[in-house]
Amino acid sequence: MDLTTTYMGLKLKNPIIVGASPLTASFESIKKLEANGASAVVLHSIFEEQINHETKELDHFLFKGSESYAEAIGYFPEVSLSNIESESYLEEIKNLKANISIPIIASLNGVSTGGWINYAKKLESAGVDAIELNITYIPTDIDTDARDIEALYVDALKAVKANVSIPVGVKMNAYFSAPAQMAKKLVDAGANGLVLFDRPVHVDINLENLNSIQIINKSSSKDLSETLRWSAILYKKLNTSLCASTGVSTHEDILKAIMSGADAVQMVSAILQNGESHIQTVLQNLVAWMEEKEYISIEQMKGSISLHHTSNPAAYQRANYMRILTDYRF
Ligand SMILES: Cc1cc2nc3c(=O)[nH]c(=O)nc-3n(C[C@H](O)[C@H](O)[C@H](O)COP(=O)(O)O)c2cc1C
Repeated sequence: MDLTTTYMGLKLKNPIIVGASPLTASFESIKKLEANGASAVVLHSIFEEQINHETKELDHFLFKGSESYAEAIGYFPEVSLSNIESESYLEEIKNLKANISIPIIASLNGVSTGGWINYAKKLESAGVDAIELNITYIPTDIDTDARDIEALYVDALKAVKANVSIPVGVKMNAYFSAPAQMAKKLVDAGANGLVLFDRPVHVDINLENLNSIQIINKSSSKDLSETLRWSAILYKKLNTSLCASTGVSTHEDILKAIMSGADAVQMVSAILQNGESHIQTVLQNLVAWMEEKEYISIEQMKGSISLHHTSNPAAYQRANYMRILTDYRF
């Protein structure tokens, strides 16, 4: 069975990439992921705040409207003034490249176009095979226009692209007014891959302490829907690779993602829940399913259930939406 696929120009032995998380934060854990069949890993993120010596380089976007700079800085867990994290991240990459044969993708997490962008060059020199850019920004300022927010993403990507020649992907979120056009803008700015989608940290309120909290909820297959929708819509529309992320837990989820148009998938929650050997189980189930249905390769099924052949995807989506609501019986 041919499980190989190509993502951002990287040849992968199968579609399962392990996404940025604590799973990819240590050498031992990454070794285990490789031994269990992962085809690539995205390292835990290095944050803009951990890269800049001078926190004042943080973009004005972050501090716009905050009356006290010192107070705003205080929100950060530990704003690094030493660059220790960013130096050890590079050492970690060099060690991995010497001992691991699967591709290593660095995760660069920032929101501005400040000096941290130069760090992309250091990542390339350290030997990473690609960079995944995660721009997580919650636009709280009611006076900032959506176009300015979009420009923030595009500008950060362009700045990183200008610094490196390795592939650069963008981990998108699904909350743009026009995700398809945003995807196009990112590809026009040089994105070699789009990860659909990042999973936001969830907000809750602790009723004991009467404060708001942010929590990480693990995903399940039920969370796959938006990823399938946008993979199906974007398949073959853009000259870029697509990677399905959020809710990919089983071999069935992988099949659905690939048939929707993804080139590869990222998995985190399912491995955190079931251990590294989950990758092996999923790969075995994937092969068994493909054999039973007489598929011979991943390539063969890519985009087979996308909206590529639909002449008017918007009308198609709307018609299905109406049908499902009007046909519902209780
Ligand atoms: C504990 C934890 C830590 C994470 N850390 C990062 C991170 O450092 N950078 C990042 O881009 N995504 C991070 N993520 C998000 C994951 O990479 C992934 O996008 C998300 O969990 C959705 O995939 P899943 O449904 O397979 O879990 C983290 C997720 C979890 C659960």
